[in-house]
Amino acid sequence: MKVGIDKLHFATSHLYVDMAELATARQAAPDKYLIGIGQSKMAVIPPSQDVVTLAANAAAPMLTAEDIAAIDLVVVATESGIDNSKATAIYVARLLGLSKRVRTIEMKEACYAATAGLQLAADHIRVHPTKKALVIGSDIARYGLHTPGEPTQGGGAVAMLVSADPQVLALDDDSVLLSEDIMDFWRPLYHTNALVDGKYSSNIYIDYFQDVFQEYLQQQSMSINDFTALTFHLPYTKMGLKALRSVLPSADSAQQNRLLAHFENNRYFSRQVGNLYTGSLYLGVLSLLLNDANLKANDLIGLFSYGSGAEGEFYTARLQPDYQTGLDLGLPQRLARRQRVDVATYETLFKQQLQLNATDQQIETANDPHRFVLTGQLNEQRQYLDRQQS
Ligand code: COA
Repeated sequence: MKVGIDKLHFATSHLYVDMAELATARQAAPDKYLIGIGQSKMAVIPPSQDVVTLAANAAAPMLTAEDIAAIDLVVVATESGIDNSKATAIYVARLLGLSKRVRTIEMKEACYAATAGLQLAADHIRVHPTKKALVIGSDIARYGLHTPGEPTQGGGAVAMLVSADPQVLALDDDSVLLSEDIMDFWRPLYHTNALVDGKYSSNIYIDYFQDVFQEYLQQQSMSINDFTALTFHLPYTKMGLKALRSVLPSADSAQQNRLLAHFENNRYFSRQVGNLYTGSLYLGVLSLLLNDANLKANDLIGLFSYGSGAEGEFYTARLQPDYQTGLDLGLPQRLARRQRVDVATYETLFKQQLQLNATDQQIETANDPHRFVLTGQLNEQRQYLDRQQS
């Protein structure tokens, strides 16, 4: 029985900042951000969106009544969650109108956890093939204004419906994992922005990719020439390019050109959105499948998932004949319709997030076009609005 991703959708903010403009404001050469980091636009997340609303906005448009009736597992992976105890998935299940007979959990291991959620969901469906599972990676990446990590911020959520006989990708049961206690990136409870040793984390990322990819090839008796495309966790798109380049010399020259061409489609959306933390690998998959004209049924896709701290996983998936049917086909238009904000507005919005204290707070939502918005905090509880219910 095939098990895997049946539907794949994405939500981010309706606002972005231009990276050349941000570079100029930070006295950096625009090409450092555009080429050196590999980012053209960065999503600016307004205070009216948090990981709950982003997750619900990603999942709601793809779910039919039949899907909702079949879902009995909801996993939300996040490293920018809103509560130290209660799972983001419980809020999301309520906003989506899911059954109360559902298992709802939050998973955390930096940018890796959506992959853990996906593999857990796939195993769940292998045991319960008539059910469906919803896995969402939802995050707002914050390093802070005027920090080296600032151009690698962003935010959004990728929602994946996992089922038997999936429309998009059938997952192979062939993961290679690596996990060690490493301090390359972390966020103590008292910090709202991540702490990172940026150069060190980029080096560890490459080391992890090399390790799990080479081990995978050895275990499966395969070579790099056997893959149609390799996809990567993309904290910034140059990171994936560096990883790809680190293994390209082992491919023949035609295959090197093919992998580089597929990579441009893999990174196309991330270049316009920025870092999603947990969702980044899967936005890259969506980007490849929506933008690449040179794909066909049964193509073998390699996926490298990385979370600082650190955990890496390499696994593969097979493209299904009707994969376009399960994709977020409206995404290119939604990204093109976003509104550009200047650097001063981005900085103001960055500082205007819901304050992490006990006071009642109200958030302006009039300019946010999304179905689910955060309206504020009352009696220490976040208040969410579903515009289709109001
Ligand atoms: N034109 C083209 N490229 C330029 C350039 C220019 N004018 N100026 C600089 N660059 C290149 C640099 O050569 C470098 O490329 P390289 O990494 O291939 O050598 C790149 O732009 C970045 O420059 P650098 O000086 O290294 O940037 P930085 O010290 O400001 O930090 C990060 C970059 C990525 C380390 C920083 O943004 C960060 O810490 N990000 C968060 C950590 C992260 O995402 N880790 C990933 C693992 S999950």
